[in-house]
Amino acid sequence: MLQTFILLLLQTAYVFGCGTPTVKPDTNRIVNGVDARPHSWPWQISLQVKHGSRYHHTCGGTLIGPRWVLTAGHCIWPGDVYRVVLGEHDMSQQEGTEQIRDILRIIVHPKWDIDHVANGNDLALLKLDKSPIMNDSVGVACLPEAAEILTHGTPCYISGWGNLYTHGPMPDKLQQALLPVVEHSVCSRSDWWGINVKSTMICAGGDIVAGCNGDSGGPLNCLGQDGRWYVQGVTSFVSSRVCNEVKKPTVFTRTSAFIDCILKNYENVMIYYIQIN
Ligand SMILES: *[C@@H]1O[C@H](CO)[C@@H](O)[C@H](O)[C@H]1NC(C)=O
Repeated sequence: MLQTFILLLLQTAYVFGCGTPTVKPDTNRIVNGVDARPHSWPWQISLQVKHGSRYHHTCGGTLIGPRWVLTAGHCIWPGDVYRVVLGEHDMSQQEGTEQIRDILRIIVHPKWDIDHVANGNDLALLKLDKSPIMNDSVGVACLPEAAEILTHGTPCYISGWGNLYTHGPMPDKLQQALLPVVEHSVCSRSDWWGINVKSTMICAGGDIVAGCNGDSGGPLNCLGQDGRWYVQGVTSFVSSRVCNEVKKPTVFTRTSAFIDCILKNYENVMIYYIQIN
């Protein structure tokens, strides 16, 4: 009983401690992608797929609960074996801050369909085998309120180990780039993304400021008025021609459109977490 109570308190502490990195992200308005300050996006994870006996980075993702990672549906292929690396910054080095977790369960959005990307629902939830140790290099991002819509031009940051430029090499160090939000009415114009972008998506960038940085499944990080960082989007798709094409912003699954769905699964995870402990 006491144990359960303490764990509930711990859970609450995580929830209230969301979105407040010890190392503050560099929010100078640098337009092109740059190396992030190490561990300034402590909820950023590397999703890695097993090939032979080795694991390779395949997608980004966001830690949103002690055992709970949000990524894109298209990052998951049935039958593949994955792991999650937290506390990562420089992929080329063992920095001593990395924590590796296996995945206990993968929940891909039931309506995600790789053949109909424009329908949306590009979302997956990963349940880790055990909670990482929360410290200066690993922490959770905040989830937005259900149905919250950001105004046009809200400065958000994409983060990830994605390509530095079109067909460029993958950087070793975590990158970030400033991507202002493009409101739906603009993003869905026929000369922008047209009908390919749905109201359950959020667009950001689409100008010279749209770096190529970041990668699938990773977060669109936006600072809330309360000073906490929220994961407002999950990177879904970019223009296949070039990364920073004018009028072709990066398109994200809009987290706030899926809050109920996420929380429903999250509560199941919380109950599980309390029981096994
Ligand atoms: C965080 O915890 C991990 C795992 O115990 C550890 O390796 C790391 O040194 C800790 N501290 C920081 C700042 O990452």
